[in-house]
Formats: sequence, C-alpha cells, structure tokens
Amino acid sequence: MSYVSIVGTGSYVPTKVVTNNDLEKIVDTNDEWIKTRTGIHTRRMSEGENTSDLALKAAEEALKDADMSGEDIDLIIVATVTQDTFTPSVACIVQSKIGANKATCFDITAGCTGFVYALNIAKQFLETGKCKNALVIGAEVLSKVTNWEDRNTCVLFGDGSGAAVLRAGEQEGIISTYTGSKGDENRYLEIKAVQVNNPFMQEISNNNPSLIKMNGKEIFKFATKIIRKSLKNVIEDTGYSLDDVKYIVPHQANHRIIEHVAHKTNMDIDRYYMNIDKYGNTSSASIAIALDEMNKKGLLEKNDKVILVGFGGGLTWGSIFINWVK
Ligand code: UT7
Repeated sequence: MSYVSIVGTGSYVPTKVVTNNDLEKIVDTNDEWIKTRTGIHTRRMSEGENTSDLALKAAEEALKDADMSGEDIDLIIVATVTQDTFTPSVACIVQSKIGANKATCFDITAGCTGFVYALNIAKQFLETGKCKNALVIGAEVLSKVTNWEDRNTCVLFGDGSGAAVLRAGEQEGIISTYTGSKGDENRYLEIKAVQVNNPFMQEISNNNPSLIKMNGKEIFKFATKIIRKSLKNVIEDTGYSLDDVKYIVPHQANHRIIEHVAHKTNMDIDRYYMNIDKYGNTSSASIAIALDEMNKKGLLEKNDKVILVGFGGGLTWGSIFINWVK
C-alpha cells in the first residue's frame, strides 16, 4: 500500500462580483440581513462560463503547483451538482483539454460534501497502486440552478472551482477519511433533474424546472451536529487531538454554523478557515477553493495537521485528516 498526499492545489472564480446590494434589486432582501445571517458580502457569478470551464482553470493551476502536466495524471474525479451535460462528464471534458490521455475520468455527486468524497475515492485508487497521480476537482456553476425568485436561497450561492493533485508515494499526507450519508432526509436540499416523461405514461408530467430547494433551518441543525461528529471521527481514528490541528477547513455555508461549531469544540474561531464573505456557498468547490487560498497565502507548513470537513445535500457528510507535506 502506498501513502497518498496532496502535492498541488489550484482554484478559479469568475470575475463578475455580485454584491448584496445587487441582489436587493432582484429580490426583497438587504445587505444587513445577508451579512448578519450568513456572513456573505459578495459572490462570483459566471457570465457564460460553464462548470467544465471553471474546472479546467482550477486544474491547470493545480497541475502547475504540483509541477506536473496532464500526461502525468491517470485519474480525474470531478465533484459537482451542476454538470455541463449528463454525458460527457465534466471530468472527461477536462481530460480532453489538459491532454490527460491515460486517465480514467468520472464525476461524482455528493452535494456540498462532493470534494471530500472525491478525495476519499481518489485515495483508494492511489493506495492500492491502481493509479499514481490523481486530479480531484470541485466545480460548480450554481447560478444556473438558482431560483432567482426565492430570497431564502438565491442570496447564498456562488460559482467557483478548486482542485488538488494527489500523488501516491512515501509521504503520508491523507491520514484518515470519514464519510456518511442519510438518504431518508434528502428532501431538505434538492435540485431536480429531468422528470420522467415519455409517450407510454398514463399522464404526461409537468417538467418542473431544475432549481435549488432548501429547508435552511433543518440543514443548519444538521450541519452543526454532523461537523462535530465528522471531526471526532477522524480525530479518534488518527490518535491526534484537536489541539494538534492547525486549521479546520469547513464547507462554507454560513459563518454562524462555523462559529457555533468553533464554540462547541472550544477552538479559537481563527483556526476555522473562512472565506464565505467573498464567495458565498460554492457547494462542491468551497473546501477546494479555501485549501488553495491557504496554500497560496503560505498558511500551511510541512507537517501541519489540517482537517477538511463537509456536509450537504443527500444528506451527506465527511472529513479528511491531512498531514500537509508540500
Ligand atoms: O451547502 C448546503 C448546506 N446549506 C446550508 O448549510 C444552509 C444552512 N442554513 C442556513 O444557513 C440558514 O438557515 C439560512 C441562511 C438559509 C437562513 O437563516 P435563518 O436564520 O435560518 O433564517 P430563517 O429561514 O429562519 O428566516 C428568518 C426570516 C424569515 O422572515 P420571518 O418569517 O421571520 O418574517 C425569512 O422570510 O428571514 C427572512 N428571510 C430573509 N429576509 C431578508 C429569509 N431570507 C431572507 C433574505 N433577506 N434573503
């Protein structure tokens, strides 16, 4: 069995900045409510770029950071809930653009936990020796599935992508992973796909649009509990304590969720990395963007311990305990 480590990161967000004041012109909301209830000041919006365009830019940066090219990559996994097309996958589109000709490529959907799930899957491929270098991407254009008439949700989301290159080798980087799902609570967060509709049905169904529907209060309650459970799980598995961990990198859904968890875990809020003020909730991309930002800012040093923790639609959740080896 090989060890697996993160050897490069990258991210990309569209250039268009949308402020809370911009949203006041679309729905009955205000800057004060959005800032105090969510911590979001701005988010980025695609002006035409699709998910694979965002994914590609993050991937190119991550490859550069890892000093690799597409030819070195033998596995590409993209976590997303906003694929360009049902087929081909976003991963296959990225593959063709970076020339990763020997790679196996597929997308996964695990709501906002997507990046954590994808890292976990890639780790298994690398550990067994099946692959040597993997590119894992979280990318979303949520603006195309946002209900712009629903103030409860449209103020929350943003577009963006983040990527990590994983390598199998001697250095133990990803020390522990934990994931879980609870399908019987799937109704709390939904984006419908194409409805069943064919000429052999008794009644032709109305094709409801594919837009985000969320019960924010239920997800909030779920998040505050499941983040702690996810942290506890990898902590117990590794034998480290939370005191050994330099940063927690949580899914960026609401600053109040993160503050609540920081309080409950008796940790200084500064050890929970946050950038929700700039980008809002970018679902599968949020943890990947945050990790890349931390890498670029030089916040991570060799052998620092970091925990990534996600939660979201499905319902799904998960955590990854990392020893930073770059
Ligand atoms: O990434 C997937 C995971 N997603 C999440 O983790 C989201 C988790 N949930 C949340 O972050 C919060 O529940 C929200 C930010 C979505 C909502 O915050 P809340 O404190 O739970 O607000 P609420 O839904 O209880 O609404 C409070 C009030 C309501 O008015 P009334 O009924 O008290 O008169 C809402 O209609 O705020 C109103 N409201 C708004 N007002 C201004 C809801 N959205 C807005 C808005 N602007 N955009």
